[in-house]
Amino acid sequence: MSKKNKNIAVFASGNGSNLQALIDAEKREIFSGKIQLIFSNIATAYALERAKLHHIKSFCLESKTFQGTPNQFDAEILAVCVKEKIDLICLAGYLKILSSVLINQYFKRIINIHPSLLPKYGGKGFYGHFVHEAVIKNHEKESGATVHFVTLEPDQGSIILQKKIAVDVNDTPEILAQRVLKIEHEIYPEAVRLFCDDEV
Ligand code: GRF
Repeated sequence: MSKKNKNIAVFASGNGSNLQALIDAEKREIFSGKIQLIFSNIATAYALERAKLHHIKSFCLESKTFQGTPNQFDAEILAVCVKEKIDLICLAGYLKILSSVLINQYFKRIINIHPSLLPKYGGKGFYGHFVHEAVIKNHEKESGATVHFVTLEPDQGSIILQKKIAVDVNDTPEILAQRVLKIEHEIYPEAVRLFCDDEV
């Protein structure tokens, strides 16, 4: 029998609107999991405020001031995830590349949302506004969002879910980012549902 009620950790470095979409989806019982932990590498991330507002355990380890290697940084996070019995890690605007310490231990149990139709506009340098600027510059007809497994190569893991939107001639990078973000909020909870139901 599949294990229900998976424990989820969400890692976020910024605003955390995708985190909010996951919090809301948990409340609406869209997926059979529990957001047990919110982690941020940035102390001022609004995602940590969302954790407080929703009474979710949070943990911050500032990457800026951390004295140690990336492996040591991730080992500290890993210890917390193991202690909290985390089954799934969701990266939601987490702006730090994970090391093998976390990826190997949580192989096929870390997912990420990316604001493009991967494999296009993924990998090094393609984050935030850079993605949408490139899409518009290249006169792409469509863009969208992708949820994928995290592997050692950024944005290269297998795709769980993807949704397309048409790029409008009037789209600026900012407008397109907002439109794609709306799509992200739809597909991330659905991808978590698939994971929790052992459908990926
Ligand atoms: C999203 O566009 C996500 O795809 C990317 O970072 C952004 C985070 O936005 N990885 P938010 O913090 O969830 O609002």
